[in-house]
Amino acid sequence: MKFEILNQPLHQTETDVKVVFVVKKDMSHLWIEDKESLELLGFKGESEETLFIPNNRTLYVGCDSLEADEIRLATAKTLESLQKATFKTLRIGTYSNECPKMSFMALIEGFILGSYSFNKYKSKKEPLNIEKVLICLDDYSNSNISMQSAQESLKIATVIAEATNFAKEIVNTTPHDMTPIALAEVAKTLSSLPNVTCKIMDEHFLQEQGMNAFLAVNRASVHPPRLIHLSYTPKEPKKRLVYVGKGLTYDSGGLSLKPSEHMVTMKADKSGGAAVMAIFKAAATLELPYEIHAIVGATENMIGGDAYKPDDVLVAKNGKTIEVRNTDAEGRLVLADCLCYAQELKPDLLIDMATLTGACVVALGEYTTGIMGHSSELKHTMQKAASKSGELSGTLPFNKYLEKLLKSSVADMSNISSSRYGGAITAGLFLDNFIEEENKEKWLHLDIAGPAYIEKSWGYNQCGASGAGVRMNLYWMLEENKQ
Ligand code: BES
Ligand code: ZN
Ligand code: ZN
Repeated sequence: MKFEILNQPLHQTETDVKVVFVVKKDMSHLWIEDKESLELLGFKGESEETLFIPNNRTLYVGCDSLEADEIRLATAKTLESLQKATFKTLRIGTYSNECPKMSFMALIEGFILGSYSFNKYKSKKEPLNIEKVLICLDDYSNSNISMQSAQESLKIATVIAEATNFAKEIVNTTPHDMTPIALAEVAKTLSSLPNVTCKIMDEHFLQEQGMNAFLAVNRASVHPPRLIHLSYTPKEPKKRLVYVGKGLTYDSGGLSLKPSEHMVTMKADKSGGAAVMAIFKAAATLELPYEIHAIVGATENMIGGDAYKPDDVLVAKNGKTIEVRNTDAEGRLVLADCLCYAQELKPDLLIDMATLTGACVVALGEYTTGIMGHSSELKHTMQKAASKSGELSGTLPFNKYLEKLLKSSVADMSNISSSRYGGAITAGLFLDNFIEEENKEKWLHLDIAGPAYIEKSWGYNQCGASGAGVRMNLYWMLEENKQ
């Protein structure tokens, strides 16, 4: 799909199909030439409602408001309703709200996110027919964006949305195909970007480094683990941002085996790893002025004669000991060691991303990312960035009583809480044990267990992986870079 921006009115442009949004059910807008037909056919202009009028080849799409995420949704719905149509070219105007750039980016992102489909394993691929989208700088409310600003926004939005789709593709790929070694191969492809290097570490390195918690999780897998470390070092970076992702290419639960219905979709347990790789890819492509590191702990959690066991005690990289009481709480073990490794880089900002707990899904619902950490300011700016990007997020508060629930009688801590409540937070607090004092205020933990994998499509998210967390972090960087 190619985009072209034109400085001309919508009605003076020729394409196979024209797209008009009906905003806030307002049928009186100049662009709505089929008011009578729309009324006759009972089209109300509600969000996600679409109607095609054949005689003038116009597709009407309902849109609740001019907020950026409504525009994202409306463009994605546009593509969905044209999926089977044979049109090759499409034209659309712009819909600016208080920030024309944000609205423009949302328009582009909606198209690219909406155009994604996972067909790697289908013998009959169903490609999208739309090849070209003409965007006329002819605004719905006459508050227009300049051509230069539109071109710039087109570039940024394309990179962000394509990175999101890149994460989806990794996550959707089966555990058979996306092993830790295969994930490392994907990471290596990013080293062709300017100022990027990629280091891949194997089990020997993990042993030398004393990353025994990570190694324990890997033990019963036939696939060796990999520690992926991508670095992007531009000239005179403003800050050093370090991302750590949970890359469980499969989580069977280990000996604390998951019941069959919970095991399906666990190929998505690598979503945090895929997200940090996607964020890294986009930031390096956009040449953002930050030094960025993406670290992924890639392994499977399997069963076997040499599997790690409940009752084992593990010694993590920082020397702390962990009593294993449940082998299904494996993500925090991998992250513990990876966070220790990450802090050797002396980050200005440290963010880990993981499909860490079912409890986070219980707490916030399946659409929302849980944000945890010690810095209220950091949590707040991330939440604001998430909202701008169209991602849903909520903060979950730490407290000292929950912290005590991780006490163990045989080791420094247990890998699970002694209470069945507050599981998303106690998992975050477990990770906190591996954050050094000087980094406490620089650290954020993002639990993406809910939104990372979609079993029933919603909004502009297809079934399958969603690329959760990618857009919010890139919007965070864009906002930060404005300062
Ligand atoms: N990968 C899962 C968490 C998860 C659950 C992700 C649902 C996506 C959807 C994680 O490794 C896990 O199994 N966590 C346990 C922790 C428990 C044993 C303390 C859980 O959430 O049940
Ligand atoms: Zn698990
Ligand atoms: Zn897991």
